[in-house]
Amino acid sequence: DWVMGNYVDEAVAKIREQVGDEEVLLGLSGGVDSSVAAALIHRAIGDRLTCVFVDHGLLRLHEGDMVMDMIAGKLHARVIRVDASDLFLGKLAGIHDPEQKRKTIGNLFVDVFKAEAAKLKEAGGGHQGVTFLAQGTIYPDVIESGGAKSKKAVTIKSHHNVGGLPEQLGLKLLEPLRDLFKDEVRELGLALGLPREMVYRHPFPGPGLGVRILGEVKREYADLLRRADAIFIEELRGTVDPATGKNWYELTSQAFAVFLPVKSVGVMGDGRTYDYVVALRAVQTTDFMTADWAELPYALLKRVSSRIINEVRGINRVTYDVSSKPPATIEWE
Ligand code: XMP
Repeated sequence: DWVMGNYVDEAVAKIREQVGDEEVLLGLSGGVDSSVAAALIHRAIGDRLTCVFVDHGLLRLHEGDMVMDMIAGKLHARVIRVDASDLFLGKLAGIHDPEQKRKTIGNLFVDVFKAEAAKLKEAGGGHQGVTFLAQGTIYPDVIESGGAKSKKAVTIKSHHNVGGLPEQLGLKLLEPLRDLFKDEVRELGLALGLPREMVYRHPFPGPGLGVRILGEVKREYADLLRRADAIFIEELRGTVDPATGKNWYELTSQAFAVFLPVKSVGVMGDGRTYDYVVALRAVQTTDFMTADWAELPYALLKRVSSRIINEVRGINRVTYDVSSKPPATIEWE
């Protein structure tokens, strides 16, 4: 719209002024904030932006390809995709504790990103070397890390923390979304031509499927979970609530499948199965501090369950999580 159009021009001018003729590095996660930051900075400085997208092997089905298609394919931005799944899954072997898994993933992530950044700081191959690190920090992040709130907050789960990265890398910080609320970031994303589906995505945790596979993470589990999760999301998007005209993906704040590494007995044809369990989680919330489990229609749950059990060999039981936050958390780990 007109107002956002003006905002884009102003934001682009500001970035050009700040960056001059230097080069920028941005860590792309595939989430809304980093994608919108990438689109905006690319609009301002084109190929002097390089995005690094680290695939830790714990992304959702086809997510890596989708991110590449959107940012490199459609926006024509420079993106380096780092396939680090062997590294991550290797390091996660034998680790069961959720916090330990988060730390392992977080630390590895920083290591991999730093190694890529070091390469890009070197001039060569037609570029002068990056001097800026861009981050998709938005206004609520600014308040949270600066205000009194963070001191009091009890750490229940350690989140992906990339604080202090610019200093460690010797790069200047560029945060073009710092003044914006989430809704404004979404508007901006649309104005920059990002697809609606991307701009209105549910949040996805930094450690990804690493905290949606209970206990030890294994590639086999991640592969099963990805397929079950994709079926759930597809059905949520495809099922419209007649009362609101919205689909159930839009009507929920976060929805996903969780892999339970326990086996239960089932029957299939005239055979007995002994396979894994998947739990479906869907919540409604405005702040993610408290959340209600979503009252999804039974017909939808039924379709999702039968599709997962029929289409994903290795899973023979699907359950629905009816716990609210608190006392349960949204993620299972
Ligand atoms: P919980 O499970 O604590 O989740 O109710 C609240 C919100 O935070 C997200 N979450 C994370 N995000 N790294 C992240 O980047 C994490 O380690 C992490 N743990 C939880 C969760 O998806 C939900 O949106």
